[in-house]
Amino acid sequence: MPIPAQTAAAPPPVLEVTNIEVVFKKTVQVLRGLSLTVPRGCIVALLGSNGAGKSTTLKAVSNLLGLENGAISAGTIRFDGRPVAGLPPHELVRAGLFHVMEGRRIFEDLSVEENLVAATYARTGRAGSAAGRFDLVYEYFPNLHERRSVRAGYLSGGEQQMLAIGRALVAEPSLILLDEPSLGLSPRLVEEIFAIIARINAEQGTSMLLVEQNAALAFAVASYGYIMETGRIVIDGPVERLARDRDVREFYLGLGGAGGEHRSYRDVKHYKRRKRWLS
Ligand SMILES: Nc1ncnc2c1ncn2[C@@H]1O[C@H](COP(=O)(O)OP(=O)(O)O)[C@@H](O)[C@H]1O
Ligand SMILES: [Mg+2]
Repeated sequence: MPIPAQTAAAPPPVLEVTNIEVVFKKTVQVLRGLSLTVPRGCIVALLGSNGAGKSTTLKAVSNLLGLENGAISAGTIRFDGRPVAGLPPHELVRAGLFHVMEGRRIFEDLSVEENLVAATYARTGRAGSAAGRFDLVYEYFPNLHERRSVRAGYLSGGEQQMLAIGRALVAEPSLILLDEPSLGLSPRLVEEIFAIIARINAEQGTSMLLVEQNAALAFAVASYGYIMETGRIVIDGPVERLARDRDVREFYLGLGGAGGEHRSYRDVKHYKRRKRWLS
């Protein structure tokens, strides 16, 4: 889906991050002037190798940096047109922003269904009136329905990831921040989960900022992508264009990297120039 042009009458993008800098413990700078936009209803992928700053970006958006002695030292973040600075994470959840953290943060001692109930508290401050949302979660994840009385700690990794996404769904978010949902899962499960992510986006209109290390996976569901290295965006564009980009293919899709002896000098220079953002 193309990014709609901004006009005076258009609603603001669901998320607009402008030139943020993030510093941990007042000394370690991790994000360096990072900007990105999630248009309403779109899935936007944020890619990059380990340690690039992807999770930090998501934590900046959901105001979780304080927990790790981190802070946004410059720049602005707007969710639904509204600055998020100073809004506590639970208020952001109520406003419709849900962060599915890396590593499937669920309550392992609670059952599947109790985990969903807890998510309704997060959204409304009270239990109940969410039966319809539970049905929706179980429709997307029939496995979870079968296992609804099972302690979440006993679920497989794939089921736990489904539950983590299901908890987000209960909260009826307009934007989900998804941190590496494929991590540690079998290819078959990853495929299943990504198909559901695409369905949720298409059927519920939920916008998503999807962090992934696997670019091919992200390109399959996202419309626009950003690639970051050492705290800044180095390349961005519609996924069709990124998927054709020589460097992206080589470094992130693992394609076209062989046959170095056929490279022209220009290619080598090109390689070296782009190599900067990989170190
Ligand atoms: N709480 C923290 N304190 C200090 N440095 C941190 C903290 N969290 C992350 N970092 C550093 O920030 C960089 C980016 O981390 P992260 O955002 O987790 O990367 P990614 O999610 O892209 O793998 C890494 O160098 C990491 O060591
Ligand atoms: Mg991470």
